[in-house]
Amino acid sequence: WAIYAPYVVAINTLKKKRGAVILAHNYMTPDIYHGVADFVGDSLQLAIKAVEVEEDVIVQCGVHFMAETSKILNPAKTVLMPDMEAGCSLADSITAAGIEQMRAKYPGAPVVTYVNTTAEVKAASDICCTSSNAAQIVAAQDSDTVIMTPDKYLAQNVAQQVPGKRIVWWDGACIVHERYTAQDLIEFREWNPGTRIIAHPECPPDVVAEADFSGSTSGIISYVEREKPQKAMLVTECSMASNISDALPEVDFVGPCNMCPFMKKITLEKVLYSLHTMTTPVEVDKAVAEKAKLAVQRMIDLSK
Ligand code: 13P
Ligand code: SF4
Repeated sequence: WAIYAPYVVAINTLKKKRGAVILAHNYMTPDIYHGVADFVGDSLQLAIKAVEVEEDVIVQCGVHFMAETSKILNPAKTVLMPDMEAGCSLADSITAAGIEQMRAKYPGAPVVTYVNTTAEVKAASDICCTSSNAAQIVAAQDSDTVIMTPDKYLAQNVAQQVPGKRIVWWDGACIVHERYTAQDLIEFREWNPGTRIIAHPECPPDVVAEADFSGSTSGIISYVEREKPQKAMLVTECSMASNISDALPEVDFVGPCNMCPFMKKITLEKVLYSLHTMTTPVEVDKAVAEKAKLAVQRMIDLSK
């Protein structure tokens, strides 16, 4: 902590001067998560929080689509990204033309789009979803066939939870979660009996089937806090276990984890620079933002 302290103090001082609030995703490193964030959460919680922010400036410690979502929901605010290159493999996997392609292939089917997408893709969709409400959103669609984009694994996992629907999907995946295999988990369990395995629903369905629990990043944290297993393997991004391990000394966090190179672009140094220079503000075309807001707001309303 000694090397982080000067940054933490400087950021927290400057944050007040600028009238800024820091919204951080659960995958941020512990220095950001515990040191400077005003609010931490999963994608849905961050979106809901963005609507409520009263300060003039939001510093988004997460990836670009999260900052765009904050701007779409609260356009009067200045939303700063400490590094504009913090993207997402899912957001990169589809464009608005891809949504139209799916609509042409499955006429009349509603398009449920994961929030891990650009504003243009959201604007072309009917409703958004996150990992914490995807099954609920799909189940609520008034159609036998539902298009889910862009995460094929989230779609396949939702298909297990909502068997009454025919779910068709786009061929996108998360580079962090697609790397886990069911065989890894089976072998890990054999060598470490009694380990509670908890997987994010962006993992392939056979991986989720091997897990004891699957949920959004905040769902995973709540599960571990509630259950306090002796040994837990979090089948998700590495910072998750680092952020909660100090508060849960009775839980031994075991097993390999994967790092998200996009989330890791956000550092304390860049957060400080961002507040100093007020860079880089995220802008979304007004017409696109209005349409995208409809899709995000429909999701928020259905999640209440
Ligand atoms: P959550 O909504 O579960 O936080 O997931 C966001 C994400 O990017 C996971 O890879
Ligand atoms: Fe995107 Fe995967 Fe990184 Fe989440 S973990 S931001 S889905 S690449």
